[in-house]
Amino acid sequence: MERPQPTVEGRREPLRVGVIISGSGTNLQAIIDEIDAGNIPARIAVVLSNKGDAYGLERARNHGIPAFHVDPKAQESFGHYNTALRDKLLEHDVELVVLAGYMRLLGVEVLRAFPGRVVNIHPALLPSFAGAHGVPDALAYGVKVTGVTVHFADEEFDTGPIILQECVPIHEGDTEETLFPRIHEVEYRIYPRAIKLYAEGRLVVEGRKVRIIE
Ligand code: GRF
Repeated sequence: MERPQPTVEGRREPLRVGVIISGSGTNLQAIIDEIDAGNIPARIAVVLSNKGDAYGLERARNHGIPAFHVDPKAQESFGHYNTALRDKLLEHDVELVVLAGYMRLLGVEVLRAFPGRVVNIHPALLPSFAGAHGVPDALAYGVKVTGVTVHFADEEFDTGPIILQECVPIHEGDTEETLFPRIHEVEYRIYPRAIKLYAEGRLVVEGRKVRIIE
């Protein structure tokens, strides 16, 4: 029997997600758990990491998900490294690329292969405190409210159209040790939610704005 072609609306097949990490992969775990609970019509097809010792690779393997270290040092250039990432994603028929604690800029080789199909999570309310130190930077600035942003990725750091944001108040005397857990709690809730919205075809990008179809 012929397999029905997946379409965005009314798709029959779970969305094939590729996750790229650099570290412990607690966001990856939150996404795996929501998928396993049957709450997101998706499956993780592959997990990639630029770091060989990233614990997230082990989390993936524990769930039977193919997981690979793609070593930038083993490649001739940043472009070759990104081509290697792209090829692994294509090999696994990935439809949506999820950056989950991936601490490098994603190269155009990947972005152009997946136009409008790469999402990222940032531990601050963008456009404030972009870059690799969103939590310490917000604390150092003295803002009273920070938060979490899920957005589509583009060719700059942390600048693509915003899908979801949620505030996290900063308390008197907060440190990274006390604030990070409250940021994570929000991340583990809104990243799976954003992926679910994408998988259900409910995100419409209009210029810089992302409309959510209720
Ligand atoms: C998260 O706080 C995410 O916002 C940031 O890096 C962290 C990754 O943590 N980009 P984990 O690897 O998911 O535990």
